[in-house]
Amino acid sequence: MAVIVANWKMNKVLSEAIEFTKALKSMSIKNGRKVIIAPPFVYLNQIVNELKGTEISVSAQNMFYEDKGAYTGEISPLQLIDIGVEYVIIGHSERRNIFKEDDELISKKLKSAISHNLTPIFCIGEKIEERRSGKTFEIIKKQLTDGLKLINADEIYKIIFAYEPVWAIGTGVNATPEQAGEVHQWIKAYLEKKYLNLTGESVKILYGGSVTAENAKSLMSIDGVDGLLVGGASLKIDSFEKIINF
Ligand code: PGA
Repeated sequence: MAVIVANWKMNKVLSEAIEFTKALKSMSIKNGRKVIIAPPFVYLNQIVNELKGTEISVSAQNMFYEDKGAYTGEISPLQLIDIGVEYVIIGHSERRNIFKEDDELISKKLKSAISHNLTPIFCIGEKIEERRSGKTFEIIKKQLTDGLKLINADEIYKIIFAYEPVWAIGTGVNATPEQAGEVHQWIKAYLEKKYLNLTGESVKILYGGSVTAENAKSLMSIDGVDGLLVGGASLKIDSFEKIINF
């Protein structure tokens, strides 16, 4: 099953969000595609309702790890599941870099999401200077080790991973098949060795960073790529449809 996620980030007003969702609902989607849309918080409730009775799921773009309390401006996992949200993006590079989220916070969020039966979409990826200085795998390993610090071996399957090289996000420069394949295969081998070798089960790893209608098919053909996390190209129904039905 290929997982295709639309990360709208801080885009769209309500009428645009609803119009897109109605169009998505009436679209014919190839078998073997799991479609998830991640709208801004303020539209989650309406979009969940709009998509009731369909196979399309809804994700939040972030959450806090506590259930409730004096955390002005935050949204809790309880509030997300209460309205029917099933997934949550955790550790997106924009959260890490602009809002200074660190691996410790990300780990708490992952643990909390899993304990509430929300499926986390856990993002990792290196910056351009880290890649240039040959530190890609060191960074990926640190993000995995520290981010998964609170996660037990039997919880690893509940996470969808997303490799998003920071230099590819919103830049129009996607990773080459060699670059993406190398990192995806490395992550799978690392996780299997560390957590999964007893059962042989595998995890899903999405690729994100300048995915377009034009490159979706070739990215999906890379060994180790199980789906796509799409930003810019998920905002227009035409390009998102082509990506879903690559
Ligand atoms: P992009 O964003 O597709 O616009 O590069 C991807 C992401 O940040 O998830």
